[in-house]
Amino acid sequence: MPLLQNHIAVVTGAGSGIGRAIAKGYAGEGARVVLLDMNDKAAADVVSEIRDAGGKAESFALDVTKRDDCVAMATQVADKVGKVSILVNNAGIARRNGMLGAAEAVINDWEDIIAINLTGVFNVTHAFLEPLRAAKGRIVNIGSIQSFVHLRTPSSPAYTASKHGVLGFTKALAAELGKDGVRVNAIGPGFIETPLNEKMRAANPALVQVFMDHTPLGRPGKPEDIVGPAIFLASDLSAYVSGTIVMVDGGYRTI
Ligand SMILES: NC(=O)c1ccc[n+]([C@@H]2O[C@H](COP(=O)([O-])OP(=O)(O)OC[C@H]3O[C@@H](n4cnc5c(N)ncnc54)[C@H](O)[C@@H]3O)[C@@H](O)[C@H]2O)c1
Repeated sequence: MPLLQNHIAVVTGAGSGIGRAIAKGYAGEGARVVLLDMNDKAAADVVSEIRDAGGKAESFALDVTKRDDCVAMATQVADKVGKVSILVNNAGIARRNGMLGAAEAVINDWEDIIAINLTGVFNVTHAFLEPLRAAKGRIVNIGSIQSFVHLRTPSSPAYTASKHGVLGFTKALAAELGKDGVRVNAIGPGFIETPLNEKMRAANPALVQVFMDHTPLGRPGKPEDIVGPAIFLASDLSAYVSGTIVMVDGGYRTI
């Protein structure tokens, strides 16, 4: 039997990159997937790909920073799709700026990144808590190597703080919801080639090399590299796994 048969899985930021790959992977394992993205056209395109491959999916436009919209979305999904049992908090942005730039830009980065990468995770989780608790559901949050360390290049204190926050939130939620049978885990991707870092890869090959110098497996990751661990954490294969982070980083933190 497919590993996610009879599950309804919500994936945020599912119109691109890692979220797109996870949505397609979950559909391939039998889940009905609800793709939420502020880029509704991109999410709708992924829905078409999933349906063309014989999977079940629908998409809705959602900005995860808008708390009331997240609550309304949970109601809409319950009415139109059904009882959600898996939530992947994936929507996120990255900006590789330091703390010493122009004050306005530094403050903008902080506000935008924390609003999307951290408060967005809270907003969507809070909105979908009821069905997730009722289903003894599974929550998978997308962290980063920056859930642990700053990069080996000077950059992005806001992003680093947001991803440390995602890991802390994952542990706190796992501790609180375990008694309801809800498992909460994170995935920590390393350097994964997606639209998020497309410009940086083109403009700054030296920075890519810094990542590769610290990646024993010697290659950047692809969105598909995240899919197996994401299926594992959402399925019964990980029935006794909660409150942890699965690093999918080619070994980045070892050297
Ligand atoms: N690519 C990497 O190397 C890497 C490494 C570690 C962690 N991550 C994390 O993985 C996640 C996905 O990143 P990606 O590389 O696939 O990026 P991506 O840019 O390819 O996709 C991100 C998606 O999130 C959506 N999104 C952005 N803001 C949103 C909002 N406010 N509300 C709803 N949707 C929103 C975008 O429209 C886009 O479809 C992010 O949380 C990112 O921080 C990525």
